[in-house]
Amino acid sequence: MILIDGKKIAAELREELRKEVVELKVKHNKIPGLTVVLIGDMAPSQIYVRMKEKAANEVGLKSEVIRYPGTVEEKTVLDKIDELNKDESISGILVQLPLPKHIDKQKVIETILPGKDVDGFHPMNVGNLSSGYESSVPCTPLGCYLMIKKIEPNLSGKKAVMIGRSNLNGKPMAQLLLKENCTVTITHSKTKDLKAECLEADIIVAAVGIPELVKADWVKKDAIVIDVGINKTEKGIVGDVAFDEVSKVARALTPVPGGVGPMTIACLLKNTIECFKRSKN
Ligand code: GUN
Repeated sequence: MILIDGKKIAAELREELRKEVVELKVKHNKIPGLTVVLIGDMAPSQIYVRMKEKAANEVGLKSEVIRYPGTVEEKTVLDKIDELNKDESISGILVQLPLPKHIDKQKVIETILPGKDVDGFHPMNVGNLSSGYESSVPCTPLGCYLMIKKIEPNLSGKKAVMIGRSNLNGKPMAQLLLKENCTVTITHSKTKDLKAECLEADIIVAAVGIPELVKADWVKKDAIVIDVGINKTEKGIVGDVAFDEVSKVARALTPVPGGVGPMTIACLLKNTIECFKRSKN
């Protein structure tokens, strides 16, 4: 079994990006800039944003975090996004989710210029991705995709099963694999026989938030299994895949932690650099 070392692959990607930033600086006399907006004091968001900031600095991006209390008015946030949209030194804007209830998430997403939308959440980017045009691609599925491609460069004709249909992961992941000529099934909570669907799959991407849902007898021998889940349980953080047993049947499997997580962050940096380059073309 191949343990897909997301930490290592992400470190390699960051090193490539670091070199690219140096080249871009020579070429344009500017460096790509990432601004993260963090609202409220939710612990996981604080941790993620700190990791994003650290990684951005590591590859030499200009990085900034704008923090607001959870009580901030929606208008203040939207006005700030407008200001960031107009600021030429900023290539990418990310508003960390989830947001407090009184702030309209969709309004926030749609206020970010599509060309600066490093999350790939803007309807313009969602549409472009599904139409097969150039777009920002959400960081988590992009990271999963790069890991899958490392294991299997030719995905044509493979059967891929997404567990979960979120805008954050399942749907964009399906689009990426469809582009690679996979036959894609998106499953969800109303799917009749999830185990049977999984048993057909050459590739499984689990992103539902149910601890250790995917068991060994759900997985075809030699399948590639990507575990997006991060679930707090009594025995610590576990994924959506029963790691120990599935590792005995799968061809390749991502660990939790150390799989998808580091790749998500590296892909955010990649998206920031892509936005910068597109703005120069
Ligand atoms: N919260 C959890 N994951 C994400 C993500 O990928 N982007 C943003 N903006 N917020 C998140």
